[in-house]
Amino acid sequence: MAGITNTAYRRLCQEYGGGLYVSEMVTSRALVERTEESMRLIGHHETEKIRSVQLYGVDPKTIGDAVTMLVAEDRADHIDLNFGCPVPKVTRKGGGAALPWKSDLFSSIVRAAVKAAGDIPVTVKMRKGIDQDHLTFLDSGKSARDAGVAAVALHGRTASDYYSGEADWNAIAELREALPDVQVLGNGDIWSAADAVSMMKQTGVDGVVVGRGCLGRPWLFADLEKAIVRYLAGDQNPSVDIVMPSLGEVADSFYRHAQLLVEFFEDEGRACRDIRKHVAWYFKGYPVGGDFRAELAQVESLDHMMQILSKLDRSVPYPGEAAEGPRGRLGTSKACSLPENWLSSRELNTTHRLELQEAELSVSGG
Ligand SMILES: Cc1cc2nc3c(=O)[nH]c(=O)nc-3n(C[C@H](O)[C@H](O)[C@H](O)COP(=O)(O)O)c2cc1C
Repeated sequence: MAGITNTAYRRLCQEYGGGLYVSEMVTSRALVERTEESMRLIGHHETEKIRSVQLYGVDPKTIGDAVTMLVAEDRADHIDLNFGCPVPKVTRKGGGAALPWKSDLFSSIVRAAVKAAGDIPVTVKMRKGIDQDHLTFLDSGKSARDAGVAAVALHGRTASDYYSGEADWNAIAELREALPDVQVLGNGDIWSAADAVSMMKQTGVDGVVVGRGCLGRPWLFADLEKAIVRYLAGDQNPSVDIVMPSLGEVADSFYRHAQLLVEFFEDEGRACRDIRKHVAWYFKGYPVGGDFRAELAQVESLDHMMQILSKLDRSVPYPGEAAEGPRGRLGTSKACSLPENWLSSRELNTTHRLELQEAELSVSGG
């Protein structure tokens, strides 16, 4: 997740449980140009055994070059291609979740990545389509499989759904059934280990992809690991003792997150500014009061943070449901912004090809 899953947060999550932790999205163009930010985004800590990098791109040649670089310089063990970004400034130019509509371009990008990756597994992540009348997931999934990907992950929403409503797990089941010969991963609305098992049962997917559920809850991966391992071993209803951190334990994780961010950014001020967005997620449901939240949301240094956190009553127990459930972006559905006449054909024309170049320039991600 852009802005969230940097090395610091991945390390923290990994300290709780196993999983494949994917980098923040990085644009292939920035990577080929070796911008400072993109090089930082693809960096991994030595404790990260599977170095997973997510690329975003709109041009097969640039994607191929970026993957070639990652492979030649031994910088990744897994590459994921992101075709799910619903942000209007990206889809308006034909990028992100709008791109799979152009089936020839989608296939060329995936093929270029798989070819350049050699033995390194490439996976794709996508949404259901542009909107309910323009679904692409079944043919994109098949096209990705034919191109040789190791897995296809589907977020059960369309671009125009944005993050609204509930993810459509039936579409995930449909994709699973349509692609018996490649791994299928499901994504959308997994807030707990029980949700992960429900999705696996209901859809038959090989694994799950978690986004917002882990915001401010790195310990979720401990629950997920336990439940999924048991489920895959044949326990249809694994009952797992979930991690239920006391307020003191939440404060410790929050502080550790900040420490790891300082290491990552090599800049204490920047790390403290970055952690501010995590305050509401970590302390969701805990009775800490508005003043505490406001103070922490203006934290300036680790010492300052320690002073603020030390005012908490560490013995306050896990609040249960109040700390669980949806968090992060929700938003409402709206028509997906697209280039003019984008929907009139599934093949890319010259005008759209030119517009697409900007779809990569306007994205942060390196
Ligand atoms: C802040 C934020 C940043 C995200 N960044 C990315 C990203 O860089 N790459 C990606 O594939 N998906 C990204 N997503 C989407 C999530 O990976 C996921 O597909 C989506 O949130 C639905 O899953 P969830 O219900 O588990 O959150 C992001 C989501 C959020 C909320």
